[in-house]
Amino acid sequence: MTRAGWKTRFGFYMAAVGSAFGLGNLWRFPYVVGENGGGAFVLLYVFLALVMGLPLLIGELMLGKIKRRSVMMATSLLEPAAPRSPYRWVGRLSVLLSLVVLSYYAVISGWVLHFLVQFMIEGLSRFGFESQITLGALTSNGLLQMGLASVHLIVSIVIVLKGVQEGLEKWVGALMPAFAILMAVLVVKTLSLPSAGDAIRFLFYPDFSKLTLQSLLFAIGHVCFTLSVGFGTMVTFGSYLSDKEHVPTAAFRITILDTVLSLVAGLVIFPVALSASHQTLQDPGLLFESLPSFLLSLPGGPWFGAMFFLCLYLASLSASIGLLEVIVSNTMDWKKVPRTRATWTSGALVLGLAMIPSFSSHLAQASRGSRVLETLDFVLINLCLPLIAAALAYAVMHGLPKSERERGFVDQDLVESVSMYPYWVGAMKWVVPLTVGFALLLQVASWF
Ligand code: PHE
Repeated sequence: MTRAGWKTRFGFYMAAVGSAFGLGNLWRFPYVVGENGGGAFVLLYVFLALVMGLPLLIGELMLGKIKRRSVMMATSLLEPAAPRSPYRWVGRLSVLLSLVVLSYYAVISGWVLHFLVQFMIEGLSRFGFESQITLGALTSNGLLQMGLASVHLIVSIVIVLKGVQEGLEKWVGALMPAFAILMAVLVVKTLSLPSAGDAIRFLFYPDFSKLTLQSLLFAIGHVCFTLSVGFGTMVTFGSYLSDKEHVPTAAFRITILDTVLSLVAGLVIFPVALSASHQTLQDPGLLFESLPSFLLSLPGGPWFGAMFFLCLYLASLSASIGLLEVIVSNTMDWKKVPRTRATWTSGALVLGLAMIPSFSSHLAQASRGSRVLETLDFVLINLCLPLIAAALAYAVMHGLPKSERERGFVDQDLVESVSMYPYWVGAMKWVVPLTVGFALLLQVASWF
């Protein structure tokens, strides 16, 4: 089977950044920072993005580029015992994780769609919507959440059906510049709020006493989530990469851009959240409760808000497409079925799973108020994801021959690549497993 490639280098960057940049940066990052006390956590997160996230991203892109397969086939082609390497189980688990994560990602994307529609209605008729009430009504309505998640998944399916090139390059290329401008305008506005000083202190002043025993695992989980590593997504994207492309350079650019975008998101959300006295900072509703009232207070507010939520929706769409693309390309490689069948079957499966987060408030009532969405997010992103990412790192370091890894990393024309190689090996072999192991121990300690 011939493999489609990226038409342009720009196309690859757009798709990879489009997959990395999404709800993780604008929705998850602020509330996880709020939950873990601010500055010290932000510092930990940036540090781990460089010493763990970046090496993991290089490993996944490299695996895809060398094996020219998606994660399940690529891991089964690793030593020992290719083509039935025991590492194939790591590949399978990462695809399973993508499937489950997409099901709740689709529900949150549905929230974004709902707010987009609310802003548009507000622009047309000014009925004066209240973000907290809107969010409360939405999260307690399982059918509505399910309906919105279905719309989102159908849109994603249609795009993925068109194949990687036309699908991803066109959509993401159009989105990025518009969102960059919008975010820049918003940062200028939020930084002129009276609470801006407090927000900057909260985000950048490291008070280590605010960290908890759980914070390390939260930081690792979020680094993997926001950079899309551990899901096999980047293996698929790497498999479409041209031979000429230097993987570590690409990974470095993606990491820096994604991290800067998260920090900018923090600078937009926290001044607004801190100026509303009743706002709790550690809740998944943070983005949806705090930002809309601020957007409405701006001149042309409803339309400005609609533009913001449209861009946010497109960002979450491109991330969802990345997730769906992993599931589809793996099913195609594995079962040798055509793209159309693989896409509809995977989409239907994800939709079925999306019932759990959609009806989470109903389930919460049945289980006397336990927080289903938070529990799901905690188990998937903080526990499963770091373990799978570390297992993938192990598979790359032990299943790819040393010479291939070295050839994948070192480019003789780039002096830095020669000097950085041992650091990458050290990070993958030691930093990743030891940090994940230590974080899990701290987590267990926090339960006692
Ligand atoms: N990185 C995306 C985000 O931050 C989420 C994602 C994970 C997308 C894995 C694709 C694959 O929103």
